[in-house]
Amino acid sequence: YLQGDTSTGELRSPEFVIQHDFINFLIGGGEHPGKTCLNLAVQGEVARTATGLDAERLQWHTWNVKEFKGFKARLVVVDGESGGWGHVNLDQIVFSDTAKTRPGPQDPIVRAMASVEESAQAAAKDPSRPGFHFRPPGNWMNDPNGPIFHGGYLHMFYQHNPYGENWGHMHWGHARTKDLIRWQHMPIALAPSKELGEEHVFSGSATLDGEGRPIIFYTSIAKGKSAGEHAEQWAALGDEKLVSWRKLPANPIMEDGIHGGRRIWDWRDPYHFKHQGESYMVLGGNLNQAKGGQAVVTLYKASNRELTRWEYLGILFTHPDREVVNIECPNFFELDGKWVLIISPHRRVEYFVGSFDGKTFTPSTRGLVDHSDNYYAPNGTFDPNGNHLLWGWVRGFPGGGGWNGCLTLPRRLSIDRQGLLRQTLAPEVKQLRENQFRIGKVLLKEGMRYVPPPRGNQLDIQTEV
Ligand code: FRU
Repeated sequence: YLQGDTSTGELRSPEFVIQHDFINFLIGGGEHPGKTCLNLAVQGEVARTATGLDAERLQWHTWNVKEFKGFKARLVVVDGESGGWGHVNLDQIVFSDTAKTRPGPQDPIVRAMASVEESAQAAAKDPSRPGFHFRPPGNWMNDPNGPIFHGGYLHMFYQHNPYGENWGHMHWGHARTKDLIRWQHMPIALAPSKELGEEHVFSGSATLDGEGRPIIFYTSIAKGKSAGEHAEQWAALGDEKLVSWRKLPANPIMEDGIHGGRRIWDWRDPYHFKHQGESYMVLGGNLNQAKGGQAVVTLYKASNRELTRWEYLGILFTHPDREVVNIECPNFFELDGKWVLIISPHRRVEYFVGSFDGKTFTPSTRGLVDHSDNYYAPNGTFDPNGNHLLWGWVRGFPGGGGWNGCLTLPRRLSIDRQGLLRQTLAPEVKQLRENQFRIGKVLLKEGMRYVPPPRGNQLDIQTEV
C-alpha cells in the first residue's frame, strides 16, 4: 500500500510443505479477484485465492488444504490493481488443524451476518447507542426500506452495511415487530449478487403481487458503475415469513430503455402504490445530470399480475425549485382524500399534497416533513386499521462505537383542513414511557446549560417554548 492504491507488486513466501488441514488468515482491502489477493500456489499453480471486500476491516478467512498435505507450496500476496481499492491487507497467516470460519465459498448473507455479529458486541457496550429507536444489531444503516404489515407483524427493511460503520456494501437488513416498539432482528434479506455483477442493493419497497406473494422492488447498482450513470430496477420474491428472498430470473424488471430514449440520471428507489386496484410505481431522479431545475419523480404502471412487466407513464412531478438537483426516495399515496408526495431532495425532506387522476399529480400545498437535517429518506406504509405510518432515517452520528444510524419513532400522518401534512407520534410509543417528571417553567438564558432531572441516558422530553 506504499503511496496509496496506485502502487503494485507481489510478495512471495519461501517454499514450505503443507502439514496441517487448514490455513487461517485475516484479510481486508480490495475485492479484485486475481488482482488484489492472497494466493496459495501448489507446485506452481494457484490452488486457493482470497480477496478483501472493498473494506479495510480484516476478516477471518479459512482455506481447507487437506488434499495438499505433503505438497510443496508458497503464499503469494498479489497487488496488481492501481485503481480504487487497489490494495490488500493481511495479518496472522496461521497453519492449523482447526478452521477459523466455515471453509469453502460462503453464503454472502451468512458472511454478512457474521460481520454484524462482531460489531454488535461493541455496539451493545456503547451507552450512547439509542435504546428504543430501531437500529441494527451493529454497523451502519441508512434508509428504511419496504415497511409492510404481513402475518401479524410490521416488517421493516433498511439499507445496511454489514461490513462497517460507514456507508458501503448496501444490503437489505430486516427486523419485525408486533407492537411497533419491541423489535426482533431477522436474517439479512438481500445481499448483492456478486456473481451477477451486482455491487449494491439500494432502496425500494415491498408489497404482495397479484398472487399474494411477498415481493421486493429495489434498485440494483452494478460493480464499477456510478449510481448516477447507470441503475436497474430488480425484484425478489419472498417466502410467507419474509425471511428468504429469491431474485427473479426476469431481472432487471425495468431498465433505461423503458423511457423510450429519454435519459434519467440517479434513477432509483422504486415505491409501489395502488390506485383503483392497479399497481403503480414511482421512482426518483433527474433529467440533466443533476445540474438543477430538472429533479423529477417518474411514474409506471404494472402490466402483469406478477408485477414483473411495467409500462412508463411519464413524469409525475418536476421540482419547482431550480436549486434542487435530484430527488431520492419518493413516497406517493392517498391520504384523507388527497394525494401525498414525500421526497428526499438532498436537503430537508419535503412533501407536496394535491390530487392525482392516474397520470397527473396536481400539487396544491407543500411543506417540510421535518425541520432537521439529520432526518432523511423516510418510508411509510398503512397499518391494518388504515393509519399511515412513516419512519425516517436519523443520520449524523459520530460513529466509533460499533454502530451508526437509527430510525425515528413511528409517526402517524394525516391531512388537515388547509391541506397540510400533520404528524403525531404513533400511540404505541406511549408503552415506552415509565416514570413521569414535571419540571414547570425554566428561564433559559444565552450560554446557559440546563440538564433537567432525572439523570439518565434514555429520556423522552416534551417541551413548550
Ligand atoms: C438515500 C439514498 C437512496 C439510495 C440509498 C443508497 O439516502 O441515497 O437514494 O437508494 O440511499 O444507500
